[in-house]
Amino acid sequence: MNVQSPNDLNAFWMPFTANRQFKTEPRMFVAADGMYYTTSDGRQVLDGTAGLWCCNAGHKRPKIVEAVQAQVAEMDYAPAFQMGHPKAFELANKLVNMAPEGMEHVFYTNSGSESVETALKIALAYHRAKGDGARSRLVGRERGYHGVNFGGISVGGIVNNRRFFGSLLTGVDHLPHTHLPEQNKFVRGQPEHGAHLADDLERIVALHGAETIAAVIVEPMAGSTGVLLPPKGYLERLREITRKHGILLIFDEVITGFGRLGSSFAAEHFGVTPDIMVTAKGLTNGVIPMGAVMCTAEIHDAFMNGPEHVIELFHGYTYSGNPIAAAAGIATLDTYREEGLFERAAELAPYWEDMLHGLKGLPHVIDIRNMGLIGAIELEPIAGSPTQRAFSAFLAAYDKGLLIRTTGDIIAMSPPLIIEKDEIDRIGETLKDVLTSID
Ligand SMILES: Cc1ncc(COP(=O)(O)O)c(C=O)c1O
Repeated sequence: MNVQSPNDLNAFWMPFTANRQFKTEPRMFVAADGMYYTTSDGRQVLDGTAGLWCCNAGHKRPKIVEAVQAQVAEMDYAPAFQMGHPKAFELANKLVNMAPEGMEHVFYTNSGSESVETALKIALAYHRAKGDGARSRLVGRERGYHGVNFGGISVGGIVNNRRFFGSLLTGVDHLPHTHLPEQNKFVRGQPEHGAHLADDLERIVALHGAETIAAVIVEPMAGSTGVLLPPKGYLERLREITRKHGILLIFDEVITGFGRLGSSFAAEHFGVTPDIMVTAKGLTNGVIPMGAVMCTAEIHDAFMNGPEHVIELFHGYTYSGNPIAAAAGIATLDTYREEGLFERAAELAPYWEDMLHGLKGLPHVIDIRNMGLIGAIELEPIAGSPTQRAFSAFLAAYDKGLLIRTTGDIIAMSPPLIIEKDEIDRIGETLKDVLTSID
């Protein structure tokens, strides 16, 4: 029999964490309110990352808390298959109403990773439903992050997320990433150079034949790889080429959805509408796991044939549209709307941009990128010890009362959209302190 005290740290194998480092120097949050976390030693930490890019309305928001409490007391769970409950439908309608024109149906999941798998499966099954089943290839992009399940890491392009896990899905190709540091350094907003990188899709089409390609999936703005913005004209070009060849375009909006760029979705922000949109995170303000995949009527309707008693799509999760998640989702979308948080993000964006670019010239900083309420500071890696410098910055910031996120040697930030200007100033001052104090 194992005998472990409840506060022993050993049993929990933590995700995407340096477990041994953490367990020698634990960092524990025990409460959260508004823009701040409280640590187990009673300190306040300013949330510079909206949790993990998900608490867009900030923490412990009354409407969401109450909705979850009321729902769990009223009905804890309803079967997701062959049964329904009203809130799942209500939330779907709200989502469709805030999504770009053309996104008319919603399929629920429990995470970004599951939303990605769902989107890829819908894309493949759609072509088959149309009698076009030879379209089985999927195209992702280098440096893309689409979660951690097998489909997602196959189309994703972050080497450490792929290299340990076998040969992944077959029939997957990758577009080049859009990071051109020589041409696009310290750019505010969208970079000028790189639209031509979308043309690589024509090379992939020429190599395999368009009639074998089901879908292209990209993050309209790549977040987890360290905030890479789409060059001007890039997404438009990708839309043009996919449409020309009958290839579905999937936008992974897990980070960009729900106000991060100062609009409901990146699709709206950039004026480019995909065929399928992948969402999660901000959908429930991070409170309860939930994802949603949205698609066009054309895709949905292709499945709606055959005898009416037969299931049209053999896919779904026990917790698809879970009542508590649905209640959290409705209250979250209401909070965003009532408080005008997407507009607020757009209004604050120039101030945020000035703060970030004010860090140019500090030690180690080799690039700064931003859009909406998202920003990245790229640091020169320590020779022979990549990621060490950014990790030191993360620890130093935490000590100084600021939560940042790092990926490789890039600091990424995405504060809740309720942030105040003086808190943006504080982030800037803390980062200045951090960057001048680390090796
Ligand atoms: C673009 C994108 N897709 C998918 C995911 C995976 O989401 P989850 O961690 O909820 O599975 C993430 C998470 O950061 C993401 O940024």
